[in-house]
Amino acid sequence: MKYAGNTKRKPEETWVAVESYLDGLLIPADAALNAALADSAKAGLPEIAVSASQGKLLHLLAKMQGARKILEIGTLGGYSTIWLGRALPARGRVVTLEAEKKHAEVARRNIARAGLSGKVEVRLGPALTTLSQMAGERRAAFDFVFIDADKENTTEYFEWALRLSRSGSVIVVDNVIRDGEVADAASSDPRVQGIRRFNEALAREKRVSATTIQTVGSKGYDGFTLAVVLR
Ligand code: SAH
Ligand code: DHB
Ligand code: MG
Repeated sequence: MKYAGNTKRKPEETWVAVESYLDGLLIPADAALNAALADSAKAGLPEIAVSASQGKLLHLLAKMQGARKILEIGTLGGYSTIWLGRALPARGRVVTLEAEKKHAEVARRNIARAGLSGKVEVRLGPALTTLSQMAGERRAAFDFVFIDADKENTTEYFEWALRLSRSGSVIVVDNVIRDGEVADAASSDPRVQGIRRFNEALAREKRVSATTIQTVGSKGYDGFTLAVVLR
């Protein structure tokens, strides 16, 4: 297969071909992860989970961070949750927040099949509500936060992530590029405007150091913001 010099193939086809080449080498087929995707699709959940290579990126970042307490905002069927849960040490915990009852139920089954029920709490409810509940519970700070829910509220979720974390915590935000639409100030997509509002807040935010990385592959052209909490 020709790679870079092949002008007959659309760039998107190259991204997907390279991703499947790399996944074939670096990401062995995994029964629990495959079943999580299959059962999510069967239950009619939208097919918007992170890709395998993105899931493994989250897993590696959480491991590099030595995370013992992970917060995820936006569970869907628990696919990214399983990648994150597998990065935890023996007594680690993931709390994952989901607004849709059906999604939470599918996720709980998928998480149980992956052997992670003892480490993962799926909290049902709109995240702005469950986050403010958690703040009242005075839990230990989260070491790692993955924000991947309704894009309109990303700015608020990031603010909550800061309140619920500590100096040195890592915050990752998904879907911040959206096919490049993020650079279009006139976009009529409220999700794009949500991410633009987040970017403007991030630019002013003194409590973190952050960068945004564009990604391509089976999830199209999108990207992640990575931030470390300074204080
Ligand atoms: N992190 C998942 C994908 C999440 S998709 C993965 O990669 O596998 C986004 C999820 O956020 C959906 O399940 C959606 O129902 C949920 N969501 C949307 N608005 C929400 C809200 N206000 N509070 C909590 N979850 C919400
Ligand atoms: C959407 C949400 C996601 O988390 C994602 O990875 C892709 C798309 C969406 O709301 O369209
Ligand atoms: Mg996402």
